[in-house]
Amino acid sequence: HGDHNQKVDYVFKVVLIGDSSVGKSQLLARFSRNEFSMDSKATIGVEFQTKTLVIDNQTVKSQIWDTAGQERYRAVTSAYYRGAVGAMLVYDMTKRQSFDHISRWLEELRGHADKNIVIMLVGNKCDLTNLRAVPIEDAKEFAQRESLFFMETSAREATNVETAFFTVLTGIY
Ligand code: GTP
Ligand code: MG
Repeated sequence: HGDHNQKVDYVFKVVLIGDSSVGKSQLLARFSRNEFSMDSKATIGVEFQTKTLVIDNQTVKSQIWDTAGQERYRAVTSAYYRGAVGAMLVYDMTKRQSFDHISRWLEELRGHADKNIVIMLVGNKCDLTNLRAVPIEDAKEFAQRESLFFMETSAREATNVETAFFTVLTGIY
């Protein structure tokens, strides 16, 4: 297994946030195990996965935390954000409401996380082209105004998933 006997230069904690069912857990499954499931269950509490990558000849162990989008299933917020150096702020590009809620998630993130945290705005489910409800320009404009990275992804088709995580991890490093 790849993690064995490997010298780790850095450990980076990255948190996933956003409304329920936008695809946070499936983005994590795709990134960490190259898996995807159509009948993903809502997350209860907090879960995490690690993945070790080499960036600029340095071994970086990413520890990606995933929590429930649903308020009633969420764990203690401050503990979730503690020590995080990166964040993925995820919406579903077929659900306008999940994008409209991004500013609230960002507010919570900025209220709890380190001020130098690297943030990526992620419009997930870009495989559902015909169901698009959030124009890419709206998301780009928001990201620019708030100084966030931005990418559209598909956990299902593995589009931009590695690139999105890699961009955040490189931004931290
Ligand atoms: P909570 O844990 O409740 O916060 O939800 P979540 O954000 O973790 O969503 P989850 O990853 O469980 O995905 C919700 C649903 O969307 C599941 O049916 C997934 O299969 C589906 N899904 C996730 N990513 C994609 C994607 O890129 N494309 C499509 N078409 N469906 C996706
Ligand atoms: Mg989940």
